[in-house]
Amino acid sequence: MRKIVIAGLNECLGSAFSGLTDILTLARRAVVRAAAPAENAEDPFYVVAASADGESIRDRAGASFPVAASFEAITSCDAIIVPSFWPGEDGKPPDMSRFGATAAWLRRHHVRGALIAGCGTGVFLLGEAGLLDGRRCTTSWRHHEELKQRYARIDAAWGARLIEDRRVVTAAGPLSWIDVALHVIRELCGVDAARIAAEFTLGEAAPFKGAQLGPTVYNTTGLNEGAGAFLSDAERIVRQSNSSMSAQELARALSTSERTLHRRLKLASGESPKTFIDRIRVETARMLLETSAKPVKELASSAGFADEASFRRAFRRFAGMAPSAYRVWARARSQNKGQLFALRKEAEIIPKMLTTIFDACVNGVTLADPDLEDSPIIYANRPFMRITGYELDEIIGRNCRFLQGDDRDQEGRLRLREAIRNREQVEVTLRNYRKDGALFHNKLNITPLFDADGRLLYFLGVQYDVSDQVQAELEIGDLKAKLMSLTD
Ligand SMILES: Cc1cc2nc3c(=O)[nH]c(=O)nc-3n(C[C@H](O)[C@H](O)[C@H](O)COP(=O)(O)O)c2cc1C
Repeated sequence: MRKIVIAGLNECLGSAFSGLTDILTLARRAVVRAAAPAENAEDPFYVVAASADGESIRDRAGASFPVAASFEAITSCDAIIVPSFWPGEDGKPPDMSRFGATAAWLRRHHVRGALIAGCGTGVFLLGEAGLLDGRRCTTSWRHHEELKQRYARIDAAWGARLIEDRRVVTAAGPLSWIDVALHVIRELCGVDAARIAAEFTLGEAAPFKGAQLGPTVYNTTGLNEGAGAFLSDAERIVRQSNSSMSAQELARALSTSERTLHRRLKLASGESPKTFIDRIRVETARMLLETSAKPVKELASSAGFADEASFRRAFRRFAGMAPSAYRVWARARSQNKGQLFALRKEAEIIPKMLTTIFDACVNGVTLADPDLEDSPIIYANRPFMRITGYELDEIIGRNCRFLQGDDRDQEGRLRLREAIRNREQVEVTLRNYRKDGALFHNKLNITPLFDADGRLLYFLGVQYDVSDQVQAELEIGDLKAKLMSLTD
């Protein structure tokens, strides 16, 4: 049975702390009931509320909440959820350095394989634990800047509702504990359990849905003070404008001249207004790619780009890959399986050595992700591009059948289809077509790749261009036929 721990801290929001206990306990009951009405129904998980010393916690309003254990008494668990904190007098999340021991405890459990989740400002404790370093994460929009300032090595998404990156879940808003509870149930117990659990929730769980709507309604100018205020205000204006924005328009919105805008941006972020605007827009687009299924064209306009081409250019420049590839990469990452083969061209994510080895092969190497709709290609090496004549942009995110063109009536294709369905290794030779329309014979070897638990992660495809060989065989066949007719 899975164990979910709710981390109680004296300054957390009492409603989030007890709400988490309620929703998880009710959900557990419902899942048990739905799974087997008989008395032998098994508990899918149980919930433990814990605190640093095992004593009741007290919120800022003076309410007291009992717990069942101390953090140290929890030697193993499957998930830990940190609720939101009360904001301090300055409106900011409390100084997390005082929770050093709890941060270390979170780190230890993460290393042992637990899912660690932070709700709203609870995300700051995950930052203190170093769990956000190099990870994509989110928090309440009003604390976005503060989070980035306190934890410089994180990759914070603005406006995203919930993100999971390699067993670290972060969610935006003080009410996000509902989203987080459902997400944790889904991760530990599956989609059906999460669906049953969702029946207990309020339906519309978070304060806003889209990237831009909520903050526009509530935001007040002058929220940010200090050195970064100019930058934050500029960011907010770019994010909230619905159409493309020029440097002149941004200057006007900030009640300053274009020249001053130029100078102050250079000083604050080292960027020109155009680069700055594009970067913020790309950031919005990244979030939309991660959280919506919008087609790229639509998404470009939602993110404030005048046209798709300029969006694609800017996206490549800042994200280092095409939008469709980013979507695939982000999905793989949130499923904890993107680290090895995902497409991001950074040393820590795709080991350079591996790429070099694959690129040095004469044959094509591809990976398809069976967890994504229609099993698209998420990795292709250089020889694959050379053989097919397609650019990476045109390959990633598509099912490889596009190489067959209209020539679908092939016996090998059906064998391939069957083997993929049965998760078996297979080798077939198919007629495929290069980008320029030229036929080539593709000897294709597909191998399913499983993890240690037998979970199917990817299909590995190795492609050999055997056109010369097939051609030679055809010619030999022709010659034989001719010889036979002569001797007849
Ligand atoms: C990793 C991988 C690589 C593949 N590479 C190719 C390929 O190079 N050429 C091709 O025609 N089909 C390729 N396929 C097969 C197609 O994607 C698809 O599975 C096949 O056409 C059968 O499915 P269908 O009948 O739905 O098209 C590959 C499949 C996988 C999983």
